[in-house]
Amino acid sequence: MRVYGITNVKGGAGKTHATIHLAYEAASLGKRVAVLDLDPTRQSVNWVELAGLGIPALHLDIKQSDLEAYVEQLRTDGDFDVVVIDTPANDRDATLETLMVADVAIIPVGVGTSDTGMLGTTERQVKRALQLRPQLKTFILLNRTKFAPARERETEEECRKTGIPVLQARVPLRGDYQAAAGKVPRGHHYGEVWREINA
Ligand SMILES: Nc1ncnc2c1ncn2[C@@H]1O[C@H](COP(=O)(O)OP(=O)(O)O)[C@@H](O)[C@H]1O
Ligand SMILES: [Mg+2]
Repeated sequence: MRVYGITNVKGGAGKTHATIHLAYEAASLGKRVAVLDLDPTRQSVNWVELAGLGIPALHLDIKQSDLEAYVEQLRTDGDFDVVVIDTPANDRDATLETLMVADVAIIPVGVGTSDTGMLGTTERQVKRALQLRPQLKTFILLNRTKFAPARERETEEECRKTGIPVLQARVPLRGDYQAAAGKVPRGHHYGEVWREINA
């Protein structure tokens, strides 16, 4: 079982969007996938249910439940190949706890949405986790690309300064992505992301 943690302390970066698209991509490839939604707004769970994706999706309140023990149990049970964890904004505990159980961490960063403003906070959490778990793979995913090239270069520059690898695969700003919540995922970009993070 491989655990993908989608984290960024900044809200609106594209965590939920990435969670659902990556989970759907993995399911389309025949993997047994579960979504674990740590966000009290339950947007990932709602999306899976509304779109009828047929992927088990569960909300977990980490203030009440032990995420590490929960994930450990999932590994022991062996029912899933892939678990994708969506995390809430502005919640450093949830971010760090996710980084402590993930095999792969993906940090979506939106172009032109001041997402880099809080990148430092996420970066510190990532570095803390990496000190304890050097095997953790971390990637920054540039989101909302292709509409403002100058800003995109600035955002990419800021991301590179963190030392966290920036994925070649990017997700453009698109109307159908904007309106994707609650629908069956479409578009090929997350297929490219999936291949790169598992290469
Ligand atoms: N590549 C994109 N193009 C257009 N809209 C996007 C894109 N990625 C995310 N969005 C939209 O931006 C908003 C915030 O995304 P979301 O995934 O909910 O962020 P987070 O979970 O990090 O708070 C949502 O309305 C989503 O549909
Ligand atoms: Mg979200």
